[in-house]
Amino acid sequence: MKNIILFGAPGAGKGTQSAFMVEKWGMVHISTGDLFRKAIRNETALGKEARKYMDQGELVPDAVVIGMVEEVLTEIEDKNFVLDGFPRNVSQAEALENLLKKHHTTIGKVVSLEVPTETLVSRLSSRRVCSQCGAVYNVVGKPPRVEGICDQCGGQVIQRDDDKEEAIRTRLQVYEESTRPLKTYFENQNKLVEIDGVGEAQEVLARVEQALNSPTS
Ligand code: AP5
Repeated sequence: MKNIILFGAPGAGKGTQSAFMVEKWGMVHISTGDLFRKAIRNETALGKEARKYMDQGELVPDAVVIGMVEEVLTEIEDKNFVLDGFPRNVSQAEALENLLKKHHTTIGKVVSLEVPTETLVSRLSSRRVCSQCGAVYNVVGKPPRVEGICDQCGGQVIQRDDDKEEAIRTRLQVYEESTRPLKTYFENQNKLVEIDGVGEAQEVLARVEQALNSPTS
C-alpha cells in the first residue's frame, strides 16, 4: 500500500482506521496528535508547548508540527506510512510536499472520512482512550472489556481533555475554517477520495480499501 493521508474532522475515525491499516498492511502510523500526547506524558518541552493549544482545541503552531513530522519521516526511512491529523492547513500541506521531495517519496491518495457533525460530537463525547498506549475506546460502541482498564496494555482508560464540550466545539470550528479547505488543494492534485465514514468501523475499512484499490478518476 502506498503512503496515504487519512483526512477528516475530529472524531471522523482517522485513529480507528489507521490502527486497522497498521495491522492489515503493516504501514507506519504517523499521528501528530498521538505524538503530542506522548510528549505531554513524558513532560518534554515539546509537550508543554503543545498542551497550551491542545487543551483549548486550537492548532499547535505550524513550525512545531512540521519540525516534528520531519523528524519522524527521517526515522522511518523508506517504510510506507499513513498520516493522521497532518497536514491541517495549506501551509502544512506545502511544507509536507517539500519534506516528501527531500525524502524522495510521494502520497498515493488522500482519503477523506465524511461524517455528519452531530455524529462527530456524539462520538467525541463518548470516546475514551488509554492513558498509556493511546488505544481508542467508546463507552457506547466499543467499551474496554473491564471498565476503565485498557484491553491491550492494562493502562488506565480516561477521557481526553480536549473531548470536553467546549474544546470539541472549538476543534470542529478550527476544522471548518483551516482544515476543510485543504480538500480543494488535494482535489486539484487529483488525490482526494471521499468515503462515507458512518457505519461499523470494519465496513468503513472495506470502503477505504476499495477506494485505495481503484484508480482516482
Ligand atoms: P488529533 O489527535 O489529531 O485529534 P483530531 O483530528 O481532532 O482527531 P481525533 O483523534 O479526535 O479523532 P479521529 O478522527 O482519530 O477519531 P477516532 O478514530 O478516535 O489532534 C488533537 C490536537 O492536537 C489538535 O486539536 C491540535 O491541538 C493538535 N494537533 C494535532 N495535529 C496537528 C497539526 N497537524 N497541526 C496543529 N495542531 C495539531 O474515533 C472517535 C470516536 O469514535 C472513538 O471513540 C471511536 O471508537 C469511535 N468511532 C470511530 N469510528 C467509528 C465508527 N465507524 N462507528 C462508530 N464509532 C466510531
